Amino acid sequence: MSNSPSTVLTGIAELTTHDPERPVLSDAALVVEGSRVAWVGPTAEAPAADVRVDVGGRAVVPGFVDSHSHLVFAGDRAPEFAARMAGTPYAAGGIRTTVAATRAASDEQLTAHVARLVQEMRRQGTTTLEIKSGYGLSVHDEARSLAVARQFTEETTFLGAHVVPAEHADDPAAYVELVTGPMLEAAAPHARWVDAFCETGAFDVDQARAVLVAGAAHGLRGRLHASQLGPGPGVLLAAELGLAAVDHCTYLTDADVDALRDSGTVATLLPGVEFSTRQPYPDARRLLDAGIHVAIASDCNPGSSYTSSVPFCIALAVREMGMTPAEALHAATAGGARALGRDDVGHLTPGARADLVVLDAPSAVHLAYRPGVPLVVATLMGAEVVAG
Ligand code: NIG
Ligand code: FE
Repeated sequence: MSNSPSTVLTGIAELTTHDPERPVLSDAALVVEGSRVAWVGPTAEAPAADVRVDVGGRAVVPGFVDSHSHLVFAGDRAPEFAARMAGTPYAAGGIRTTVAATRAASDEQLTAHVARLVQEMRRQGTTTLEIKSGYGLSVHDEARSLAVARQFTEETTFLGAHVVPAEHADDPAAYVELVTGPMLEAAAPHARWVDAFCETGAFDVDQARAVLVAGAAHGLRGRLHASQLGPGPGVLLAAELGLAAVDHCTYLTDADVDALRDSGTVATLLPGVEFSTRQPYPDARRLLDAGIHVAIASDCNPGSSYTSSVPFCIALAVREMGMTPAEALHAATAGGARALGRDDVGHLTPGARADLVVLDAPSAVHLAYRPGVPLVVATLMGAEVVAG
């Protein structure tokens, strides 16, 4: 037995564990020892613990795992959003507006802004978070973006291949050389992952491959933005390279779906983007019915999806993407964990990190049933209350 103090949460009306044997328990209790889950089961069988906390008939779910965000930026693009809602289509080129603002910001300003957004996320139940660079796009600005991100998460991603910045517009090949050379060299010590935006108007499949291969040579695992604005070759590339995840997946061919199924690569869906760009939502039903692993994430960024709210994304996924509430919650927790190659989060079974969310609702269905309502009463990370 461990000597760590133990706490038992009782009075859980519905506990989502994601244990394949018993994924949801009613009238449940959960014991935490140190920073880990030690026991889950019926309240009537709960073992004694040092501290007993009654959650008062509320639902408890695993903390959300937001596996895709771009939090290191300055400024916003509200005028661009307003223009879009008046009919102007979304274009990847808007990223350059944020690059200029980000380069002009100090490290302290960037850090303070990320801290504000991370706290916003904690209040909405996010306990594991991936953060990308991608608004610096110079050696110095990419490295410092990742150094800022590292203060908040281990799951940092080098996205020097976001768009070709204005000063390299005449010579994209030279920019790819920079990304795969000195920029990667400076970024790699601060990053776990490497990513590229494989899309018309950003990087083609050969450029994306070059970035992912160079990143792998520096010990970075790959993930990819693909098929956001139209069908393209990125999903097949992600499957071929066995990447952990390919993100967006809004426009998929049958060959893409077959490749995802065969590779086991997670398809990360980002419904905040379709909400904010007025594009068609991805078809999650098609993916789930094909046996593909699906994650849901916020893609929080100032251009295509300025929401920090996973509950909002869950509600969109249920309403617009053919998912059941249980499937959407799974995708936003266990799915995100798989997309990050993590087995310690995204579920509440013995041994997992005690990252959990108490909802002011009797069941997790309320996350989609009561869209826009702040249902998160408390967010715990490693058994510590971080919001609520
Ligand atoms: O994931 N797709 C590329 N990158 C972001 C958009 C960034 C922006 O518009 O600033 C995304 O949607
Ligand atoms: Fe993104």
